Amino acid sequence: MDYLKIFAPATVANVSCGFDSLGFAVDAIGDEMTFIKTVEKGVKITNITGAVLPYNVDENAASAVIKKILLEAKADFGIALTIHKGFSPGSGLGSSAASAAGAAFGVNQFLTHQYSNLELTKFAMFGEEVACGSAIADNVAAAIYGGFVLVRSYEPLEVIKLPVPEELRVVAIHPQIAIKTKDAREVLPKEIALQDAVTQWANVGGLVSGLFTNNYELISNSLVDVIVEPFRKGLIPFFDEVKTNAIKAGALGAGISGSGPTIFALCKGDKSAKNVYKAIEAAYQETGIGFEMFISKINPQGMKIIK
Ligand code: HSE
Repeated sequence: MDYLKIFAPATVANVSCGFDSLGFAVDAIGDEMTFIKTVEKGVKITNITGAVLPYNVDENAASAVIKKILLEAKADFGIALTIHKGFSPGSGLGSSAASAAGAAFGVNQFLTHQYSNLELTKFAMFGEEVACGSAIADNVAAAIYGGFVLVRSYEPLEVIKLPVPEELRVVAIHPQIAIKTKDAREVLPKEIALQDAVTQWANVGGLVSGLFTNNYELISNSLVDVIVEPFRKGLIPFFDEVKTNAIKAGALGAGISGSGPTIFALCKGDKSAKNVYKAIEAAYQETGIGFEMFISKINPQGMKIIK
């Protein structure tokens, strides 16, 4: 194989209660990346469209990951890479994660001895470190495994793929401002109250249980974040209005997607998702701030090979 084109999905990390440990892949939005096998060793980026990102291979999350994998696998070939961003960096939809995870998945297809999803996640976490200074796994694991994932442990890394109830839909609004993950992490407290920790881990358990049992009411009750959201929501204009409108319109819950500014709402079924979409749109239309929105199914497979 000399050529590969893939789709690398956007992802929603944290999912309210699961900071740095829960995430899911989106079906409707993502990047396209092409890989050409070259005789010359190493990696080079030949084209980036859809966003302004570094061409320097050590500064770009995708090429940094490819370089690392080619070295570790002692590959006797190189990769020429193109990246078409389908959504913006700084959106909270796992932009650097799509690049890093897409890179790991893509280059893996050219190797004789392929890495496992867990190993690919570790490589992709290196890309996250290059992009935002922290080797976070929730977005990259969701992009690689697809569906809902739980990062049960970082040391050693353990990722658990969770089931996705059939009718689960996500509605998201991306206000056209950019928030750097690094900045959104700096507003967080270093210590939290025990009572908040109790609330949070009980909700993670409730959400995971709700996903396993198709219990939408339990999912809804568990979409609560008392630890991170209170500190980050001030970075997102009209967050409370969007959340209130979404829940009034029937969303199971709403919260900040990853480090924001995208706000996501989970819904049961297409009809409810459409109502929630309209309610969120109405909340934002008068604000004067530009925005993009989408409705999507949860993407069960993650990466897709296009050709
Ligand atoms: N879990 C990470 C955070 C995701 O919320 O900072 C960053 O995209």
